Amino acid sequence: MDLELLEQAARRRLDAAFYDYIAGGSEDEETLVDNAAAWSRMRLRPKVLRDVDRVDLSTTALGAPVASPIGVAPMAMQHRACEDGPVATARAAAATGSLLVFGLFGAGSAGGVAEVESTAPRWLQVYVLKDRARSAAAIARSVEEGYAALVLTVDVVRQGNRRRDARNRWVFLREGDEAEEDPNELFDRSLTFDDIAWFRERAGVPLVIKGVMRGDDAAACVDAGAAAVIVSNHGGRQLDGAAATADVLREVVEAVGDRGEVYVDGGIRRGQHVLKALALGARGVMLGRPVMWGLAAGGRLGAQAVLRGFQQELERAMALSGVRSVPEIGPDLLHERG
Ligand SMILES: Cc1cc2nc3c(=O)[nH]c(=O)nc-3n(C[C@H](O)[C@H](O)[C@H](O)COP(=O)(O)O)c2cc1C
Repeated sequence: MDLELLEQAARRRLDAAFYDYIAGGSEDEETLVDNAAAWSRMRLRPKVLRDVDRVDLSTTALGAPVASPIGVAPMAMQHRACEDGPVATARAAAATGSLLVFGLFGAGSAGGVAEVESTAPRWLQVYVLKDRARSAAAIARSVEEGYAALVLTVDVVRQGNRRRDARNRWVFLREGDEAEEDPNELFDRSLTFDDIAWFRERAGVPLVIKGVMRGDDAAACVDAGAAAVIVSNHGGRQLDGAAATADVLREVVEAVGDRGEVYVDGGIRRGQHVLKALALGARGVMLGRPVMWGLAAGGRLGAQAVLRGFQQELERAMALSGVRSVPEIGPDLLHERG
């Protein structure tokens, strides 16, 4: 798997402004860069002589079986990356047994995803809008369409200052899309932990909070009834200068303890990065841009190749680290630099 080549192939196919929309982060892109760098900074302590003839990647996500701990992060505008983008991604996730988080916002015509047969679970991601009726409709939809969890993304009370988009005069949803809506006008900025309870009471499925970067916030989320949190800084697209997710994961895992599951995304570009996330205590990881590059370069098969490639890399990294299964991955695999 060569993600650089894949990104280049995607870039050739996409118009420049859309490429920038995907690739970019906010302001000086410090957090965007640090997300990937932080995984690279960590070092592993491989075990030897552990009989790794067979390595099993399978695990569960909120109790549902998945082929591996590698899932797909929610991303808007997949319908512009390739025809039927969200459905293509859903097929790629199904073919690889991967958890799919489908983002409802900016998804073009979002029909069809729920019809894709999959043994792996799908979660529905929504933003909390000022218009609670729309949120209630999303909640109803999550149950009707068989989503196993509802994901609330809470790090977009306003949009980050994305300079590439400003330079390109990129409008979030452009002509030809369903509607032009300014996210800044739609999103509920007054959101607090009490609102989590509002959603939990109405959602017929477990609630997951995405965009948590601190232990105290994570603890408050599970106290308010969330079943899981996703450690995320939105791929460096919101607050520039925010810490890398790899650097705050341990704190969040400790704060949540056994009261919920912890997932992480941001800058995961290799199987060994997944191994490090799991060693820090994550239940699973989610991939953003790599899936988008696969989708743009090769549609469903491109996205599938990315997911398969990550699974193969994780399998090799586990074998080379002397672990045979996901439950065997622990903090002892991490090298603490003195
Ligand atoms: C093009 C693009 C669109 C995104 N749209 C959403 C979205 O609609 N909802 C959401 O919760 N996160 C969204 N994100 C953030 C991703 O879910 C994820 O947090 C991030 O991309 C992970 O980092 P990575 O791209 O470095 O893997 C988006 C990210 C990108 C790159």
